[in-house]
Amino acid sequence: MTATGLIIDGKAIAARLRADIAQQVIARMAAGARAPALAVVLVGEDPASQVYVKNKIEACRQAGITSIEHRRDTSLSEADLLDLVARLNADPAVDGILVQLPLPPQIDAQKVISAISPEKDVDGFHPVNAGRLATGLDGFVPCTPLGCLRLLEQTLGDISGAEALVIGRSNIVGRPMASLLIGASATVTVAHSRSRDLPELARRADILIAAVGRPEMVRGHWVKPGATVIDVGINRVARESGTGTRLVGDVCFTEAAEVAAHITPVPGGVGPMTIACLLENTLKAAAH
Ligand code: GUN
Repeated sequence: MTATGLIIDGKAIAARLRADIAQQVIARMAAGARAPALAVVLVGEDPASQVYVKNKIEACRQAGITSIEHRRDTSLSEADLLDLVARLNADPAVDGILVQLPLPPQIDAQKVISAISPEKDVDGFHPVNAGRLATGLDGFVPCTPLGCLRLLEQTLGDISGAEALVIGRSNIVGRPMASLLIGASATVTVAHSRSRDLPELARRADILIAAVGRPEMVRGHWVKPGATVIDVGINRVARESGTGTRLVGDVCFTEAAEVAAHITPVPGGVGPMTIACLLENTLKAAAH
């Protein structure tokens, strides 16, 4: 049996946030401003990236945000991508710039991220925005951890004093997630591939955030009874039946749902919030 409120409905929470953003876009335009505009750069043919970009563009459309897609061949040179970023930085009709990751191997992703104007960096990956977040200053916050924080706020309200464990230390999720949780006055541990006794660390956590990219790594017996579990993983695995694939998170959902008080599903948990927070960041970039 699952208790009422067990499953954190990221899709519904994201839909409310998106409706709220759409209202703000309408109000902005009623006051005479143009629609917020997001430039989306997709290099190559990565199938997951193509789906993400398509979803981001459709979400922009529904919120009344203009999106300008720039698709480039996998063979694009680093210099040409840096050139495109420079043009978008200089374009007053562009509020936000998103370069979809991963990039092909001939391109240094960090160099490209650092070339984006921090004021248009709606992904929040630029070192200036990472530094702003780490020092508690206002800036752009990466969309996935921001979405996770919004889910925690909606589910738990005040999280000050809570023990939080973040599994994963990536620049996209783990590190900014830790900064956000510190900002919300949680007690934060960051675990990673070198951490000793991960199950024991996990069992102490009131808030458990898994962002490692390993299918169903977090087992039910790792979860503290009554904990809130946020599953950032999106892993495609073969179906047991042998036909096709399905998406699973970094958490073994059926086991963890027996123990947790609240848990995000995959899909329908964190994913929709990432997109909603991208719209929120784009609106913020336009308001600058
Ligand atoms: N690839 C996977 N997640 C993201 C993201 O949040 N932003 C960008 N630009 N690329 C990604």
